[in-house]
Amino acid sequence: MGQLRLGDEAPDFTADTTQGSIRFHEWLGDSWGVLFSHPADFTPVCTTELGYTAKLKPEFDQRGVKVIGLSIDPLDSHVEWSKDIEETQGHAPNFPMIADADGTVADLYGMFDQTKADKQTARSVFVIGPDKKIKLMITYPASTGRNFDEILRVIDSLQLTANYKVATPVNWNRGEDVIIGASVTDEEAKEAFPDGWETVKPYLRKVPDPTA
Ligand code: BEZ
Repeated sequence: MGQLRLGDEAPDFTADTTQGSIRFHEWLGDSWGVLFSHPADFTPVCTTELGYTAKLKPEFDQRGVKVIGLSIDPLDSHVEWSKDIEETQGHAPNFPMIADADGTVADLYGMFDQTKADKQTARSVFVIGPDKKIKLMITYPASTGRNFDEILRVIDSLQLTANYKVATPVNWNRGEDVIIGASVTDEEAKEAFPDGWETVKPYLRKVPDPTA
């Protein structure tokens, strides 16, 4: 498979996880999904990321998002690592962790570097829409912990902009003003936003968050 790009279908796979064997697309159902990966178990930065993501589960649930982790180690190792995560972070992973010991799924998603020599590059986050299309992908270096508040923020933007003809500006958070999409004419905007908007520039038109 060639390099994955935004808008591609998220590759389907069958894998063993800490919550049993899953077929990925079937497991996702009609939900949004977050797939995030780890190059190995018992890695320090990943330990903190998994604990924090488990803490955020109510936030993901509220948005209709299913979270799944992946680590390039076997199932029994994931089970042991989960105990450490609970002990050190206060939250055990409360979502499935894929046992991708041979890196098949990581490879399917293009997480490895070009030579496949360096599995440390398997530190990716994919956000997948209910249409199974990839909406966001970010790959982090081993030395930098991921920001899962940012992942939630992007999901808020993706879910809003999937339903309204708007885009979200820099550092936007739920409830803040949004931007009328560049492809929306003023005529169309009058229908979509009958209460009007603020024209900062003809190409920069602000309206309140339509869900606020
Ligand atoms: C970590 O600290 O989680 C980590 C260490 C080495 C490679 C990748 C991740």
